[in-house]
Amino acid sequence: MISKRSSVHGQWSSRWVFILAATGSAVGLGNIWRFPYLVGENGGGAFVLVYLICVVLVGVPIMMAEILLGRRGRQSPINTMSILAAEEGLSQYWQLIGWMGVIAGFIILSYYSVIAGWTLAYIFRTGAGAFIGADGGFSKNMFTELVSDPEKLLAWHTIFIVMSVVIVSRGVKGGLEIAVKFLMPALLILLLVMVGYAMSTEKFLEGITYLFVPDFERLADKNFFADILLPALGQAFFSLSIGMGAIMIYGSYLSQKSSITFNCFTIAIADTSVAMLAGIAIFPIVFTYGLEPAGGPGLIFITLPIAFGQMPFGTLFGTLFFILLLFAAWTSAISLLEPAVTWLIENKNMSRIKASTFAGVIAWTLGLVTVLSFNHWAFSFSFAGVDKENGFFDIFDILTSNILLPIGGLLIAIFAVWRMSRKSTAEELGLGDNISYRAWRFSVRYVAPFGVIVIFLNAIGVFKLLGFVEQ
Ligand code: PFF
Repeated sequence: MISKRSSVHGQWSSRWVFILAATGSAVGLGNIWRFPYLVGENGGGAFVLVYLICVVLVGVPIMMAEILLGRRGRQSPINTMSILAAEEGLSQYWQLIGWMGVIAGFIILSYYSVIAGWTLAYIFRTGAGAFIGADGGFSKNMFTELVSDPEKLLAWHTIFIVMSVVIVSRGVKGGLEIAVKFLMPALLILLLVMVGYAMSTEKFLEGITYLFVPDFERLADKNFFADILLPALGQAFFSLSIGMGAIMIYGSYLSQKSSITFNCFTIAIADTSVAMLAGIAIFPIVFTYGLEPAGGPGLIFITLPIAFGQMPFGTLFGTLFFILLLFAAWTSAISLLEPAVTWLIENKNMSRIKASTFAGVIAWTLGLVTVLSFNHWAFSFSFAGVDKENGFFDIFDILTSNILLPIGGLLIAIFAVWRMSRKSTAEELGLGDNISYRAWRFSVRYVAPFGVIVIFLNAIGVFKLLGFVEQ
């Protein structure tokens, strides 16, 4: 029996709208801000290669599982898990997946919004021509000056949270459709312009080689599992928006006729292409202008303005670029709020406006920690062989993407193929018992959980303790 439930929150008007909305959630700061700086911190090509493997072997199968659960349950992730667990005769503890997701969503949004705030600030700076003729030192100073001023960070963070609350309170389907239909393709075009500029720089080839050719010697003093695999896995979850219910809630608005497999591949390809283009645009600039690839979270805000300052029509392109990046961040932030908001509407009888405002206030308050992490509260520690300098911000980021999202994904995988009946998943994916279904089932049953567990155990040093790997 195919589920006949429909979502009380409405449905996407077509399959393409779902693909656009889910791509809007996936493509964001994670691709353009986080991916390049992680590549720089974690040694270039080897990280990229491992990242791509994680996307294909772990990310896509788990994304399919998450959408499948969402569409079958048709409610907020917490309630969806409760309904599906009851239907399959399983414990209500499975709701935990939804709760963990809501917590992860708040933590991610709290710092995501601060970074989106930097983007807002850079729209105005670039628009005012601040970067004309800028070199590495100048651009770095501009960035440092911004992040060392908590008042400014707080103001931009507040504006971004309000922007996100406004859209979510109107129902994600309203504003989102237009934003993703036109602005995402525009962002892609501007990224291509940036790649064009990167091609004209002296060290284009060096940048590309750094990005795509794994240099295992550079990793000599690193632990492959903890220092490369764990951050790559975390980035795959973060970038695809999986493991916390964001894609699950979007799946709950998906029509029964739409193919989950096709949708997931389309979203993953779009998401990965944007990340790669961002890398191609950024690393040649890093090398040409003598910047440090491991420059940390400021990397794109330091490198890209140099390009805008040097290229023809740079002020125009730069301003447009940051506007579009802001939209990309916006469409992702919305999906971070949606799981909590739908739960509040369903369970606490709140109106959408009230629920969104309430959730926004929580994320805003938590965001104060990140605001202060870049100045008054800054402290350093080492993670995955990398010096992290922004204390609580880095802890939030590591806790969510490297721990909570992969655990969420692992539980989703276990639920979908170890606990849910084969009949239910085959029915929901609409693949019958064909080869694609079996391939999916195999990867969600064995490959993805095994990958996550092995990476975790290694990262926390269990294998070292047991003597499986060299000390
Ligand atoms: N995928 C978004 C990005 O790459 O910017 C961030 C994100 C959105 C992560 C939604 C997790 C999530 F649930």
